[in-house]
Amino acid sequence: MPDRYDLPAGFRWGVATAAYQIEGAVDEDGRGPSVWDTFTARSGAIRDGHTGAVACDHYHRHPEDIALMHGLGLDGYRFSIAWPRIQPTGAGPVNAAGLAFYDRLVDDLLAVGITPLPTLFHWDLPQALEDAGGWLNRDTAYRFAEYAAIVADRLGDRVPAWITLNEPFVHTVYGYAMGIHAPGRTLMFEALPAAHHQLLGHGLAAAALHERGLEVMLSNNLTPVEPATPSPADAAAAAAYDTLHNRLFTDPVLLGRYPDLAALGVPDDIFGAVRPGDLDLIHTPGLDGLGVNYYNPTRVAAPTDPGLPFDLLDIPDVPHTAFGWPVVPDGLRRLLLGLRDTYGTALPPITITENGCSTTEDLDDTFRIDYLSTHLDALATAVAEGVDVRGYYTWSLIDNFEWAEGLFSQRFGLVHVDFATQWRTPKASYAWYRDLIAVHRARCAKEGSVTSP
Ligand code: FCB
Repeated sequence: MPDRYDLPAGFRWGVATAAYQIEGAVDEDGRGPSVWDTFTARSGAIRDGHTGAVACDHYHRHPEDIALMHGLGLDGYRFSIAWPRIQPTGAGPVNAAGLAFYDRLVDDLLAVGITPLPTLFHWDLPQALEDAGGWLNRDTAYRFAEYAAIVADRLGDRVPAWITLNEPFVHTVYGYAMGIHAPGRTLMFEALPAAHHQLLGHGLAAAALHERGLEVMLSNNLTPVEPATPSPADAAAAAAYDTLHNRLFTDPVLLGRYPDLAALGVPDDIFGAVRPGDLDLIHTPGLDGLGVNYYNPTRVAAPTDPGLPFDLLDIPDVPHTAFGWPVVPDGLRRLLLGLRDTYGTALPPITITENGCSTTEDLDDTFRIDYLSTHLDALATAVAEGVDVRGYYTWSLIDNFEWAEGLFSQRFGLVHVDFATQWRTPKASYAWYRDLIAVHRARCAKEGSVTSP
């Protein structure tokens, strides 16, 4: 395989997963219930009535999964920590067995040379906190910072960099505005206090991590937004969608202010959630890295339904993944250049913390190889054009529980999982990714040996 991606030495290769999507063992070792346990029990909430109760049984099979990662030759592994394993009710005493699980995971990763990159919150809020209002309750932000400190105190001697939140946009919109994900609320724009409280939780947790000398990242789902036509109405709708999807979650952290929310019909103080000093708490800790999760661009037109400020359209004439997501690799390049142009010197180094696709293929997953390789081309082009990108974590290591879509329909893994037997079988993309990493590393080692005698 030629080293077609001209990425710098030290560029980090990884895979990403999330606790509820792979761990299973929801009742074991003192784990408390999360919003996802509650939501998946709701009739009709999840395709085929699936749940994450067993998922990939990673809680018991993590040695096998780490062996698969070792086989890829990864630099890093992005996983998430289940808050309800650490504090079963989201506050108060620590569950020692839950903390011990992640302690072992970290040691086992380090033993094979893989740097752990934990995400503190990937949507599995302890149910007891949800019962008190979840992220609509400001207090959850303070509980989150306490939990972050507990975990950092235990693992921070071996884990240098941390991601606070995964995709607050998706959690707010799917979970609180539209009710497609847990906790299943349908508040539309009145969900946005949940966004503010997540960002406040990020800021408070970031300060706690920095106090402990640790690096902090925040992973957002970002999308380049394109108006359907050059008409002023479509352009205005696209700007409104860009505000909601991208700027609402990035401006406060990088610039210390919210974008103008008027086009969304949302007051500046987000229905009273934003208090004096909050934006300092969100912004001042700073970010050591921005995590970018990229899947596809979004095409937007002026609304036909007056209840919303935009309509979302498909992008025709391009391939689509099994999820129906349009495949537009150049969207990643445009997104990265757009971030640099929008935020300038306020933009920290970027890590791609998710990118991948679901396919209906089994083991010969040429669609996935094509998806990943063309996105890496786009990434390498952005790097050549001067964007500072430090690593790439593909979603995902193994087929897993894909939220509302359940277990079988959306397979994102480099490794196939037979959910009846838990048998793991590497797909063609696994060997492809392994070889790509090896070739990149060999080239960098060769160049290094030429330049440093
Ligand atoms: C992202 C989520 C991740 C996974 C992928 C497909 O939005 O962060 O958990 O479901 O989508």
